[in-house]
Amino acid sequence: MLNPKGGTGKTTLATNLARALGIRLGIPALLLDTDPQGTARDWQRAQSSPLEEGGEGRQVESVRTLPYPEVRGVDVPGHVRREAEAAAARAVVVIDGAAKAEAMAAEAAKVADLVLIPVQPSPADIWGASDLVRIVRAARTPAAFVVVRQVAGTRLAEDIGPALGGYGLPVFAARTAQRVAYAEALLLGRTVLDLDRAGAAAAEVLAVADEVLTVLGVAPEANTGP
Ligand SMILES: Nc1ncnc2c1ncn2[C@@H]1O[C@H](COP(=O)(O)OP(=O)(O)O)[C@@H](O)[C@H]1O
Ligand SMILES: [Mg+2]
Repeated sequence: MLNPKGGTGKTTLATNLARALGIRLGIPALLLDTDPQGTARDWQRAQSSPLEEGGEGRQVESVRTLPYPEVRGVDVPGHVRREAEAAAARAVVVIDGAAKAEAMAAEAAKVADLVLIPVQPSPADIWGASDLVRIVRAARTPAAFVVVRQVAGTRLAEDIGPALGGYGLPVFAARTAQRVAYAEALLLGRTVLDLDRAGAAAAEVLAVADEVLTVLGVAPEANTGP
């Protein structure tokens, strides 16, 4: 998850996607937090907070039993590959990118099988992506934009696909909408897959996960609905 701009939704997508990919593949997930701000590490610490009444009631059995993504902080670019490769045989690895850390972003882009670039439907996000696209091209790693926090039916949500097309990278069909559930889940150290009344958000995240698996040519495990 890379985007040099802060607050574009990297950590939100990274935490939710790590959980969703672990569920879809039926294997543990490792989340590498390469951001000195350590939001993913904060997220893990927040997991000790109690869930709301009735929370987790919606989970399918495979979600209930799979452990949460393990979060590891990586503070040196040279350690990204070591951490990722050490876990790759047993876990799906998601790297949460840093803002304004070019060396770290370049290393993460080199190590990854796929770079996802979360962008909000705003001109600032579209223009801000040009440096990153250069980094990703240099790494020769497949990459795609993922539109996040869209407000469906707005001009911005409709225009962002064509606007991003100028960068020559694919844009995921799966998008996330602007929903309170994402912020709530982050605050609770959970994901939208674990919150009751967050079914629409959960479906979005699973759709992004499935598109990742399709792009990578990996088949999800059976029986991990919905
Ligand atoms: N789809 C969404 N709907 C609502 N809020 C979101 C969504 N995605 C991210 N946010 C909120 O936006 C803020 C920044 O997101 P974050 O994932 O921390 O960005 P980054 O890691 O790129 O700095 C957080 O407060 C988060 O809760
Ligand atoms: Mg972050």
